[in-house]
Amino acid sequence: MSKPNQNILVMAIDGPSGTGKGTIASRVASHLGWHTLDSGALYRAFAHVAAENDISPNDALGLEELIRTIDIAFIQTNAGLKISADGKDVTDCVRSEIGGKRASIFAKNPLVRQGLLERQRRMRIAPGLVADGRDMGTVVFPDAFLKIFLDASASIRAQRRYNQLKEKGFSGTLRGLEKEIAERDAQDRNRSASPLIPASDAIVLDTSGKGIVEVLNEVVALIEERLLEERFSAD
Ligand code: C5P
Repeated sequence: MSKPNQNILVMAIDGPSGTGKGTIASRVASHLGWHTLDSGALYRAFAHVAAENDISPNDALGLEELIRTIDIAFIQTNAGLKISADGKDVTDCVRSEIGGKRASIFAKNPLVRQGLLERQRRMRIAPGLVADGRDMGTVVFPDAFLKIFLDASASIRAQRRYNQLKEKGFSGTLRGLEKEIAERDAQDRNRSASPLIPASDAIVLDTSGKGIVEVLNEVVALIEERLLEERFSAD
């Protein structure tokens, strides 16, 4: 069966937490005038509602039912992306550290991943999509025209995340955060379903020691080069 949206270009940005994926994805999308898919937010919202309904990460029937019925929406506002689940604004609770930890536990289950796959692919809307997560280039959009895998040393990622959270009134310690990030990364990298790894055709960029503008410039240069190649190969 032909898929009508397969001609729409997708750019995949994957990598562990604290590499600046989300910021780069939203700036690139506004530069190109394209849509964004924050797939981590989808996993976070799903896990939040599952936990609220006492559905455990291994309860196949409960998860299948939730996959069928859950309504998750992303609303772009002046204050940033708002996440709504079953009509409720869940932005603050899903963005917390506990929200990330919970998402990572539910994300291990292949049933959850399969259930959220089509929702992600439906976000491929003209004029184009910038999708960020862990398996955008490997599983969700293997035909992405450009795949970037952002990485950085664990301590730098923890420091960045700490600074971000501090601004929001986070009261934990850097040490505690480092430990949590390391645990979540290990869980994401070592799971059997869609583990966090760069796609074989991804460009890996180490952002340690680089500011967001420097990374953004590198990414934009790669996009322009690749778009030019696409245009020539279409002629
Ligand atoms: O990117 P973010 O930190 O919001 O993702 C939260 C968690 O959701 C990740 O640690 C990961 O376990 C899961 N996730 C995933 N696949 C994606 C995006 C997120 O497994 N594409």
